[in-house]
Amino acid sequence: MASKKNLVANRAALAHKVRYALGHPHRIGPYVKRAARDRWLAFKHPDHVGYYRAVMASDTRRNPEAAVGSQTHDRWLALGRMQFDYLREHGLKPEYRMLDIGCGNLRAGWHFIEYLDAGNYYGIDISPDILVAAKQTLTTQGLQAKLPHLTITQNLTLDFLPDAHFDVVHAHSVFSHSPIEVIDECLAHVGRVLAPGGFFDFTFDRTTGSEHHVLREDFYYRTETLVDLAARHGLRARFMDDWETRRHGQSKIRVTAS
Ligand SMILES: C[S@@+](CC[C@H](N)C(=O)[O-])C[C@H]1O[C@@H](n2cnc3c(N)ncnc32)[C@H](O)[C@@H]1O
Repeated sequence: MASKKNLVANRAALAHKVRYALGHPHRIGPYVKRAARDRWLAFKHPDHVGYYRAVMASDTRRNPEAAVGSQTHDRWLALGRMQFDYLREHGLKPEYRMLDIGCGNLRAGWHFIEYLDAGNYYGIDISPDILVAAKQTLTTQGLQAKLPHLTITQNLTLDFLPDAHFDVVHAHSVFSHSPIEVIDECLAHVGRVLAPGGFFDFTFDRTTGSEHHVLREDFYYRTETLVDLAARHGLRARFMDDWETRRHGQSKIRVTAS
C-alpha cells in the first residue's frame, strides 16, 4: 500500500495548526512541550547543527529508536528493511563503498553493514549521542567483524573524505530535518566524493504548496527546488517515482554526476 502524503498543507500556518489541534486534541500537550523545549534549545544554540544536535541528545536520552523517527521497535525494523530493500533493488552491490549521511543508530545501516564487504560502510552523523547508540546496534547485531566506520561530523563539506571514493551515498530522513543551506552544502561537495558511475539517494519531505518548516525540526521542499539546486552544482537529479509506492511519508531523489 502506498503512503498517503498531504502535499498541500502548510503545517506552519496558524489555520492548519488550529484545524489539526481540533482534530487531534490529545496531541496538543506533547506539541506544546516540544515547542517549548525546541525554543529553549534554539535560544541556546543559534546555529542549526548545534540546535539539531541538542534535539537529538534530548530525544536519544529518552529512546534512540524514537529519536530516528520510529515509535516502536517493529517500525524501526521495518523502516530499516525498507531502505535496504529499495537500495538492493536499485543497484547496491556487496563490493560497493557506501557513505551513509545521518546514519542515526543504524536503523538501515546494520543491514547495509551486514550486506557490504567488510570496511565498505562509512556512516557519519552530527550527533555523538546517536553514534553511541549506533555502536550498541552494531554490537547487538554481532557485526563487529565488518569494521564499519562511524564518524561524527560538524558539517557536510565532506572535506575529510577522499575524491571519487563512494559508489553510493545515502541520506534517509536527513534533508527532512535540514534547512536549505545544509542541503546546498551537501550538494556542493557530494560530487567530489562520488566514484565514477556513483549515485546519491536522499529522501525529503515534499510539498507542492509553499515551502515551510515546523519548529526548525521538519522542513518541506518542492521537488523543483532540490532538482534545481543539484543542477547548480553540476548534478543531475531524478525523482524516484517507484519509492512513492512504499509505505513512507517522504519522497526520494537520486543524484548523479551530469
Ligand atoms: C531521522 S534520523 C534518520 C537516521 C537514519 N538515516 C535512518 O534512516 O535510520 C536523522 C539523522 O540525521 C542526523 N542529521 C541531521 N542533520 C544532519 C546533518 N546536517 N549532517 C549529518 N547528520 C545529520 C541526525 O542526527 C539523525 O541521526
